[in-house]
Amino acid sequence: MKLQFFLNGTDVVWDVRPDEYLSNALRRHGIFSIRVGCDESICGSCTVLVDEKPVLSCSVLAITVNGKHVTTVEGIQEEVARLSHFFGEEGANQCSYCGSGMAIIIHALKKEYKNPTDEQIRDFMVGNICRCTGYHSQFKAIKAYLAEGK
Ligand code: FES
Ligand code: FES
Repeated sequence: MKLQFFLNGTDVVWDVRPDEYLSNALRRHGIFSIRVGCDESICGSCTVLVDEKPVLSCSVLAITVNGKHVTTVEGIQEEVARLSHFFGEEGANQCSYCGSGMAIIIHALKKEYKNPTDEQIRDFMVGNICRCTGYHSQFKAIKAYLAEGK
């Protein structure tokens, strides 16, 4: 079936199966920043924005984004580059498997709050599992990144 939506601001029309999940459709069309860590709505590595809200792309059917705006890290590259700098400074980049989902979440956090509290930052991070870092270095990198933007 035909799916029309806006991918990182570009109007696209794809053929998708009625039972195809958004994560699969994105990867099938070359959006390999989408990482499918669990495929069970647990890890957060497949997170995208749908109309600016974080969504687990492994848990929604592709056809449900018809007419909507979907953002992946390919659509926020400048922000990702800045964020990567702070992650590097804090040693928060290890395997980076969690990185694209985390970047999308941080983008959403920044849109939601002008000056998020530590608790609000942690609340946003809670759905994004990282098996390498223990989260503290990531938390410090996010704080430094947000402080730069003030
Ligand atoms: S792959 Fe979607 S939440 Fe883990
Ligand atoms: S850096 Fe390896 S999963 Fe997060």
